[in-house]
Amino acid sequence: MILVTGGAGYIGSHTIKGLLDNGYDCAVADNLVYGHRGAVDPRAAFEQADLLDKDSLRHVFCKFRPEAVIHFAAFAYVGESVCLPQKYYRNNVIGTLNLLSVMREFSVEKIVFSSTCATYGEPQYLPIDEEHPQNPINPYGRTKLMIEQILSDYRQAYGLKYISLRYFNAAGAAADGSIGESHRPETHLIPLVLQAIKGERQSIKIFGSDYNTPDGTCIRDYIHVEDLAEAHCLALEKAGIFNGCLNLGTGKGSSVKEVVAAAEKASGLKCSLEYAPRRPGDPAQLWADNRKAKEVLGWHPRYTDINEIVRTAWNWEINRKF
Ligand code: UFG
Repeated sequence: MILVTGGAGYIGSHTIKGLLDNGYDCAVADNLVYGHRGAVDPRAAFEQADLLDKDSLRHVFCKFRPEAVIHFAAFAYVGESVCLPQKYYRNNVIGTLNLLSVMREFSVEKIVFSSTCATYGEPQYLPIDEEHPQNPINPYGRTKLMIEQILSDYRQAYGLKYISLRYFNAAGAAADGSIGESHRPETHLIPLVLQAIKGERQSIKIFGSDYNTPDGTCIRDYIHVEDLAEAHCLALEKAGIFNGCLNLGTGKGSSVKEVVAAAEKASGLKCSLEYAPRRPGDPAQLWADNRKAKEVLGWHPRYTDINEIVRTAWNWEINRKF
C-alpha cells in the first residue's frame, strides 16, 4: 500500500491514477483545503486528514499500514507565500516533520517528495542541472528546499530512503480527460489562456514582453503531468538504491507567446491578450537538464511538444469535471 499525501491535488491525482494503472494499491490523505475529492480515483482509499494533526496521521498509518509514502501535500502559491510566510512554513515544513515522525513510529522507510525548480531561484546557467546552486527567492521555494535538506539529514541519521523530484512547470491533463488542472484561484498560464479562449475570462495578461528572449516573453519548461506521474512510480522503485534529487522537465523551453499559440491551435479560437509589466520574481528563462532523471529512473517523458501538452489541457478544459 502506497500512501499519497495531497493526492486530491493536481499532480497527486494524476500520480494516483498512474500508480493504480501500474498495479499498486493506494490510499490518499488530503485535507481538501485546495484539493478536490472528485479528483481522486475511486479505486483509491481516501481519508481526509491534515498533516498538522499528528493523531489523524497516526490513524491513517494505522488503517492503511503503508510501505512507502509519496508526499505532495503543500501550499504552492508563490505570491501568497510572500504575503503569508507563516502559513507556508507551518503547513509545508511542520506538516512534513509530522509526517516523517509518524513514518518513523510506523517504521516506514521510503518517501518520494514533491519538490520544485523554485528551489534554484534565478538561474546562473542553462539548462539547470541538479548541481545548480539553490537560492530560492520566495518562501514557497524555501519551504521546499528546507524539506529537501531535512530528508537528506534523515537519510544520514536514520537511513531514510528518499527521492526529491524537482518539477519544472507541470502542465496538461490525463489523456482520457478524466482529471486535469483545477486551482482556485487559478494563477497558472495554460489554464488561464484556455479559460480566456473559452470566454470565461475577458483576456489574459502577458507578464513582460521585454525579456532578453527571442520573442521577449518568459521561457519555461512545461512537463506533462502524466510524465510526472510516471516518474513518481519509477522513483518509488528506485528510492533507497538512489537517494537524492532529480529534475523533472522536458529539457526544452517554450515562451509565453508559444503557449498562447499552442492554445489557439488546439482550440481553433483566438485568445485576447493584454501586455502587462513583468511579474516580480519571474526569471526570464528556465529549463531543465533532465539527464540524471532519465539515467537514474529510466524515465523518458512522452510529451515533448508543447502543442500536444496544451491539447490535453484543452480537452480537459472543455469538459472539466471539477
Ligand atoms: N504568465 C503570464 N500571465 C499569466 C500567468 C503567467 O504571462 O497570467 C507567465 C509567467 O510570467 C511565467 C509563465 O507564464 O513566465 C508561467 O507562469 P506560471 O504562473 O504558470 O508558472 P511559474 O513558472 O510562475 O510557476 C511554476 C510553478 C510554481 C513553481 C515555479 C518555479 O507553478 O509552483 O514554476 O519557477 F514555483
